[in-house]
Amino acid sequence: MIDDVVRRLTAAVGNQHVSTDADVLRGRSIDHTGRYQGSASALVRPGSTGEVAEVLRLCREVRLPVTVQGGRTSLVAGTVPEHADVLLSTERLTAIGEVDVADRRVTAGAGVTASDLQRAAVAAGLLFGVDLASRDTATIGGMASTNAGGLRTVRYGNMAEQILGLEIVLPDGTVLRRQSRVRRDNTGYDLGALFVGAEGTLGVITALDLRLHPAPAHRATALCGFTELGELVSAAQTLRDLDSIAALELLDARGCTVAAEHLGTHLPVSGAWLLLVEVAGDDDQTERLADALTRAGLAETAVVGIDANARQRLWKVREAQTEVLGVFGPPLKFDVALPLSEVAGFAAKATAVVARHSPAAIPVLFGHIAEGNLHFNLMRCDVQGAAERALQESMMALIAGCGGNVSSEHGVGSRKRDFVGLSRDDADIAAMRAVKETFDPHRIVNRAVLFA
Ligand code: MLT
Ligand code: ZN
Repeated sequence: MIDDVVRRLTAAVGNQHVSTDADVLRGRSIDHTGRYQGSASALVRPGSTGEVAEVLRLCREVRLPVTVQGGRTSLVAGTVPEHADVLLSTERLTAIGEVDVADRRVTAGAGVTASDLQRAAVAAGLLFGVDLASRDTATIGGMASTNAGGLRTVRYGNMAEQILGLEIVLPDGTVLRRQSRVRRDNTGYDLGALFVGAEGTLGVITALDLRLHPAPAHRATALCGFTELGELVSAAQTLRDLDSIAALELLDARGCTVAAEHLGTHLPVSGAWLLLVEVAGDDDQTERLADALTRAGLAETAVVGIDANARQRLWKVREAQTEVLGVFGPPLKFDVALPLSEVAGFAAKATAVVARHSPAAIPVLFGHIAEGNLHFNLMRCDVQGAAERALQESMMALIAGCGGNVSSEHGVGSRKRDFVGLSRDDADIAAMRAVKETFDPHRIVNRAVLFA
């Protein structure tokens, strides 16, 4: 059957945009950390919404599962195929429309990377509000599908807050457009919202209308060191309410030391825990940052960066975190959301859980502290199979016990589908399954994701 499907896919998108090469498929079927490998039967790269629709119609007709792939930077193996799927890559959907400066919005294809969109916004004197360390690879379609947060959430919110309209191809090939020129639009269900954070389980996002923001003229950044995590959380609670807050990131000295070594630099502050603070606005932010740090009792220990180079040096340590986690082999990652009052307790208990299950592992915690969205990572984590599963179960139980959510900005993907019940009750899961059944009764798109 697959030969016939490949022939028809080739007719739909062109010979050079379909591949069944084993090495290509293997490379596209592994997750970003290198820990989880799936298998696929073909890669197809449609170049238009119409071609996406044709691919989905065809795969649905023959009941062949499809895994949708953007930049493949999912950290919950959300793009790893488990059913010898057809991989549908959005990489050719890269058109960026003219920026509407008056209305501060732009239309772009799902395969546009975050950095390309940011460049288009900057060229028009504006700013795109979601930024990620993986900005050169992550695509806006994938970011919408996971409702990505990132480094600026404290100021601009998640992807959901940036989305003004969507074009989606449903699993049966129907093209759905929710695009309005007006900002106040309450005609019927907010259908577009269903697809944001749905992790590609309801259809393929092919284009987005995105909100842009005025670009602040001045920024100031500081890195502050703490002995106790609880003290850092208290400072963050004060700083997040500043009008000019632009970033508030928790870092862990263990991860920062490895990152600094990797970057060939030294850490400018000491302490087991670090807080990166950035403020931004239209006037000089130097005094504002100094005042805020003084009020939070951090003036003595903070290192401040005002000019672009100094700020970039501080940011580099933060942005290197994900990549350096892999220096001892694929890391094991937990993306969680916690009440701020539980953060310090969670860190201590999680470290104890790890010591029991994987004594050689090195825990590294970082994340978006203003939202309580933390990334608890294990470097040199050599447990696999049943032992990895046991560790995961203990961690998930701990997160739920702390009143947290087992999946935060990275989503559920395939790694957490067995644990959704820890964060959603039965009625909620049943309603989600009913939505899935309505749009995708044959479970064609992203079958490995979200539902067990
Ligand atoms: C980040 O905050 O840098 C990303 O979520 C990536 C990660 O967790 O490794
Ligand atoms: Zn993050």
